[in-house]
Amino acid sequence: MTVIVTGGAGFIGGNFVYHMLEKYPKYKIVCVDALTYAGNMETLDGAMKNPQFEFVKADIADRDAVYALFEKCKPDYVVNFAAESHVDRSITNPDIFLRTNVIGTGVLMDACRKYGIKRFHQVSTDEVYGDLPLDKPELFFTEETPLHTSSPYSASKAGADLLVNAYNRTYKLPVTISRCSNNYGPYHFPEKLIPLMIANALNDKPLPVYGKGENVRDWLYVKDHCEAIDLILHNGKDGEVYNIGGHNERTNLEVVKTILRELGKPESLITYVTDRPGHDMRYAIDPTKINRELGWLPATRFDDGIKLTIKWYLDNRKWWENILAGEYQNYYEKMYGSGN
Ligand code: NAD
Ligand code: DAU
Repeated sequence: MTVIVTGGAGFIGGNFVYHMLEKYPKYKIVCVDALTYAGNMETLDGAMKNPQFEFVKADIADRDAVYALFEKCKPDYVVNFAAESHVDRSITNPDIFLRTNVIGTGVLMDACRKYGIKRFHQVSTDEVYGDLPLDKPELFFTEETPLHTSSPYSASKAGADLLVNAYNRTYKLPVTISRCSNNYGPYHFPEKLIPLMIANALNDKPLPVYGKGENVRDWLYVKDHCEAIDLILHNGKDGEVYNIGGHNERTNLEVVKTILRELGKPESLITYVTDRPGHDMRYAIDPTKINRELGWLPATRFDDGIKLTIKWYLDNRKWWENILAGEYQNYYEKMYGSGN
């Protein structure tokens, strides 16, 4: 089996590469990544030594490059993680989100049609369902919840999902889609809440909490997400959507305070900053379908996963300090101001 993993130099794609190499030692794993600001070859250091692994630098929206790659490696499966993934960046620069997330997904599926494929799996997000109110904790996103997006990021992901469904219906392309809640764990780029707060706390810098910090996210340890995608890829039904989440809801403030407590840092580091425009209030996944049909359940509770994650950032300072030392500094100053 040959599996193309797009976006494998990023956070979840990188974890998925390691999951697949370990679990399926006979599979050939080909990572395709454009190495944008979020892609990091250091994430793949451990994989580069594996003869079953190949890295190809390419943009998924570049049709010639994608076709040439498919021609050469004739994949059985394609798992599409490649995306512009940060909501805040989509608010300042939506264009690239449309190009990569929508056009790029279309180009990959055209290549799948042209060269033949067992399955194209689209890694989507719970953000395509919009948000839930804070005062109705009994509500959850199911696979039937209508798409109702808030940010250019989530709109681009929803656009890609619709395109995937269209290719399945019109061209009979074998596809599956997964919609997962917020991930956390090793190799998470430090612009996102959890790694940003860990890095700032370790550097005794202010922790910028948007608004009142009352927004709720449903946190899933990244390795549980990888296991779920693996199950869907091999056993999921053609044309189906699967929600992935583990009932680990926390307010942002709870998450930030947990990190400070674990690191022995004072809550006085918390700084309330201007809210994100259009900020979604609450995400919460109902994972009944993937549990019932594929037997998936998350293995990691948030209280354990956050400890593992903090330990990883303590043990791998070089990985994230290299990022903080580079171009990311300019982004941080523009986003949060030089005082933070
Ligand atoms: P990430 O930003 O860490 O990584 C994205 C990767 O895609 C990077 O390596 C980047 O270089 C690559 N990439 C970007 N544009 C590309 C292009 N045009 N061609 C080829 N490669 C390109 O993202 P992530 O957090 O790992 O998210 C991966 C996927 O999972 C995304 O599709 C995202 O929408 C989805 N998702 C993320 C979360 C989360 O909590 N992080 C939750 C649910 C779904
Ligand atoms: O739900 C899945 C989504 O989760 C994925 O589709 C996205 O790719 C991923 O980035 C993530 O989106 P969020 O916007 O939820 O994640 P982020 O880490 O950016 O923010 C989490 C929450 O923390 C959100 O309510 C905004 C808040 N926040 C974030 C940052 C970066 C802050 O309060 N301060 C910050 O500095």
